[in-house]
Amino acid sequence: MNVDTMTDTARLTFEDKEVELPVVRGSEGEVGLDISKLRAQTGLVTLDRGFKNTGSTTSGITFLNGEEGILHYRGYSIEDLAENATFMEVAYLLVYGDLPDAERLEWFTKSISKHTLVHENMRRFFDAFPMGAHPMGMLSSMASSLSTFYPDSQNPNRSVEDIDMTIHRLIAKLPTLAAQCYKHNMGHPTCYPANDLSYTENFLYMMFGLPTEDYEIDPVIDDAINKLLILHADHEQNCSTSTVRIVGSSQANLYSSISAGISALWGPLHGGANQAVIEMLEQIKADGGDLQKWIDKAKDKTDSFRLMGFGHRVYKNFDPRARIIKKSADEVLAKLGINDPVLDIAKQLEAVALEDEYFVQRGLYPNVDFYSGIIYRALGIPTEMFTVMFALGRLPGWIAQWKEMTENGEPIGRPRQIYTGHTERPVQPLDQR
Ligand code: CMC
Repeated sequence: MNVDTMTDTARLTFEDKEVELPVVRGSEGEVGLDISKLRAQTGLVTLDRGFKNTGSTTSGITFLNGEEGILHYRGYSIEDLAENATFMEVAYLLVYGDLPDAERLEWFTKSISKHTLVHENMRRFFDAFPMGAHPMGMLSSMASSLSTFYPDSQNPNRSVEDIDMTIHRLIAKLPTLAAQCYKHNMGHPTCYPANDLSYTENFLYMMFGLPTEDYEIDPVIDDAINKLLILHADHEQNCSTSTVRIVGSSQANLYSSISAGISALWGPLHGGANQAVIEMLEQIKADGGDLQKWIDKAKDKTDSFRLMGFGHRVYKNFDPRARIIKKSADEVLAKLGINDPVLDIAKQLEAVALEDEYFVQRGLYPNVDFYSGIIYRALGIPTEMFTVMFALGRLPGWIAQWKEMTENGEPIGRPRQIYTGHTERPVQPLDQR
């Protein structure tokens, strides 16, 4: 197959058939072949396990260049946003397309603050979860449960204002529910939202505050949380985002689509890696700290062990988020005066892996989750809550992607397959099988 850049079509020849495939060009020079009519024209489908080379949509939200380690939200670099914006500004940017001016930001943040409470019946749901229930399981259930308290959200033909209300409710209530997951496992009473606080301050207050005493917010911690949420806010068509889009494409309501995204994020190959990294580093430490042994295990194809926090489907040189986080981890630990031996193991492991032929050849570098867990630990967030933190950050990205998909009127997501099972055969009577 050759791509003809002059006519903007590619020709595909198969047996006696030749078809012209339209070429789609993105604003950052990406080129894709539109194969949507391929089956109708030739009877062929494409096969791409894990969608390693398949664009599921065109999107104007996030640009990512894995070879050069570039990540932009709506045209702004992640480095610029992490340094010069708040998570609320970034959430607005992702959902509405531009950074807000002061008036729009006030409208957005006030509306979010107004909707932070959850129905008392929802709070009671927590009583039924076992102690020690994984917070991601609780959070995903709670996100979907929200749809039952707001049945209007189930109507696919809602007005723009109604959709905005659902979006604001979700952004407002997810931190409340996340904090309640933590309180449930601690056996602590609920700390109701304090709407005079900023988004991140309020989250910290609901997590660590107690009705019996004052809670003072450490600006270092607040700043670090802001940055971490920004770094996780969107990442184009990853596993959980694709899940949100595909669930939403059936016109399932936004709460349930986000709940599905939370479930997809939970897995250790995706957002669950931040928990898995810390567990791995602790295991290495408890085992005596022999790094080479663990590197060898990760390279051994007969061993299922992988170095968690290493490798990425799209980043093959470095993950720009990991660079920012690594620097931030050093700063936060220094400011808080914490000496974490797990950080030392992480740094040594990174150094050994980056020299190792196996990791170099395959382009396996530390990803965002390699260092994020270390910061979360330093901030006092328990390991099982790490992926919940990721979900809080990713929420505006999921919402923006869902909104873009519905506004573009995209069709229901429904991949094809190549069937490899039995050809038709008769049902034998039971005594003859
Ligand atoms: N440790 C050891 N080997 C690895 C690792 C690893 N962490 N990651 C990939 N490989 C090897 C893999 O065995 C394969 O080797 P070979 O070519 O010899 O068969 C090669 O590298 C390519 O791996 P792949 O599994 O085909 O790559 P993928 O794009 O399908 O998977 C990944 C990407 C992130 C799932 C994978 O690198 C991984 O499992 N990493 C550990 C989990 C992790 O840290 N996940 C968080 C990702 S960042 C957060 C997010 O955005 O989701």
